[in-house]
This record gives sequence, structure tokens and C-alpha cells, in this order.
Amino acid sequence: MKKTMQLDFTNQIAHIEVGEVDGKKVITKTWGKDFGWTHADALQVMDMHASYIANLNAIGIETSVVVDEKVIPGPNNQFLVQSREEYFHCGDLLVNLMASRSRAEFLQTAEEQIVLTTNLLFSIPPLYKEQYDTDWLWLSVPVDLKPPNAVLSSGRLVLVDTFRPLFWDHGTTVLQAMPGPYKNKQKLPNDEIKTGDIRFQAGRLYGYFVAVATRWHIQQNGASATQDIDSFRHELSEIILNILTSVLAESDVVTQDLALVLIADVHEIATESIAVGSYEGPRYVQSLYESEDQTRSGET
Ligand SMILES: Nc1ncnc2c1ncn2[C@@H]1O[C@H](COP(=O)(O)OP(=O)(O)O)[C@@H](O)[C@H]1O
Ligand SMILES: [Mg+2]
Repeated sequence: MKKTMQLDFTNQIAHIEVGEVDGKKVITKTWGKDFGWTHADALQVMDMHASYIANLNAIGIETSVVVDEKVIPGPNNQFLVQSREEYFHCGDLLVNLMASRSRAEFLQTAEEQIVLTTNLLFSIPPLYKEQYDTDWLWLSVPVDLKPPNAVLSSGRLVLVDTFRPLFWDHGTTVLQAMPGPYKNKQKLPNDEIKTGDIRFQAGRLYGYFVAVATRWHIQQNGASATQDIDSFRHELSEIILNILTSVLAESDVVTQDLALVLIADVHEIATESIAVGSYEGPRYVQSLYESEDQTRSGET
């Protein structure tokens, strides 16, 4: 049975607080609630986080500036990691898109964001191979690239969600586990795919843009004009397709075979109607979420 795709539009901000340090706006992020970390675990996480950021920066990905980071005591004798980062004003990608006052403005803003995110995604070198291909989809530096995890700052894209720290184990495509006593928190189901598979990342990224376009259109015009919503989604998908095609044409990290598959995925979004699709993004992403969902319900 088909399920509605659960895109994370909510931004889990329970552990996020915006404040001020020396007249500068900062955002405080507190991690590790219910992870059961000892003081030593929390120190290890802080260490992993620092090397992860260094890895991202080393391949040219800009990350938010950490003002300070420390281990703090939490409830039930657990320890948490708290970091304060520079706060970027007005840089929220989805908020900017939803604020568009016309179709043309939406499409232009979306185009700018798609260029930046596509360039970032296909600048990441693949793990242990020179090129990504249909048999080798793995990112060397796993990123959780989706619009809610990045902000715009003076026209540049800054990755703000650098937690949880993710690393590939040496010589394998398995993610290093987080420290702590709980197995299910050390690694989440399908973490490898969700953060390390170039095809998944591309599919989900473009799924977000199509989804937010659908929402924006419904906010402007109501939910009844299905044909008009479809044509809007189609127009956006064509923009995505053009950007993806030109980025891939210049890329020396993606084989022609994989480029064709990625382009076919986007074609699929372009022709999908909201009337027949019970989801907002591409099929590839949908099917992964569904199998993950089955794994989860199988476990309980
Ligand atoms: N440095 C920052 N500047 C501005 N907004 C931020 C910053 N960091 C996070 N945010 C906002 O807070 C949201 C949640 O932060 P994030 O680091 O992604 O944590 P999580 O996804 O674990 O809740 C983001 O989607 C973004 O909208
Ligand atoms: Mg996030």
C-alpha cells in the first residue's frame, strides 16, 4: 500500500535556542538528550563533531561558525553536548521560498537555491572511487543535505546541520557508531543510505523543492486546481532537470550511466501529477522511506 511521503518540514527545534553573545546573535544547540552519554562519551562526540566539520571544510563545504562547544550535565546523570553557533538571519531556504509573492518569484528563488545545492552535492568526491556510478553511489563525507539543513548567507550556501557526526569506517561503507549504551541510538535504520547515497540525496533534495512548490501553490490558490498545480510542478521539475543536466555534463565525478539514471528520476517527478501520486517527491525516495518504515514496524 502506498503511504504519504513524510518530508521533514517541521525542523525539530526542541533543542535549539536563539540568543546573544557580545551583541552577536547566536544559536545554541544541545545534543544527546536520552542518549545516555557518560562524560567521556560526550567528549568523544565533541571530538567526532570537530573532525566531521574539518572533513566538510576540507572538501570546500562551508559550515556554520562554532563560537564554543562544551559538555554539560543533563537530566538522569547523563551528559550532553552544547554548541553555540553564529546565527544567520533570513537565510532559511524554505521560508524564503514560501514568502514568494508570485509564480515567477518562486521559480527564480528556487532556481538559485537549486543551483547552489546541486553544485554542492556533486562537488563531494565519492568514497574510494574516482567516479560515482550506478554500482557505486557512496559519498565520502556523508552530509544530510536538504533545504532545512542549510542557510543562505550573502549568496553562499552554509551547511548548518552538522550533527550527528558521521564517518565512514575505514575501508567499508558502514557508518561509525555513536558512543553510548543504546544500540538503536548509535546508528539509525538506513543512515548509510540517507546520508551516504548520492542518488538518494539527489532524489530527496529535488523532492523537497517539488514538495514546497506544491505547498506554496496550494497556499496561494487553494487545493482544488489540480491541473494548475501539476503544471507548476512540471515547470519547476524542468528547471531542476536543466540545472542537473548542465552540472552533470561538467562533472568528472559522475559516470554517464548514473547521470542518465538521475536525469530519468527527475523526468519522473516532472510527469507526476499530485492527483495520482500520493506523495510529494520522487519515487526513489518514496520507496526507500517505505522500506525503512517496514523495517521499523517489523522491529516493534
Ligand atoms: N546557524 C544557524 N543560523 C540560522 N538558522 C539556523 C542555524 N542553525 C540552525 N538553524 C535553523 O534551525 C533548524 C534546526 O537546526 P539543525 O542544526 O538542522 O538541527 P536539527 O535538524 O538537529 O533539529 C534549521 O533547520 C535551521 O532552520
Ligand atoms: Mg536539521
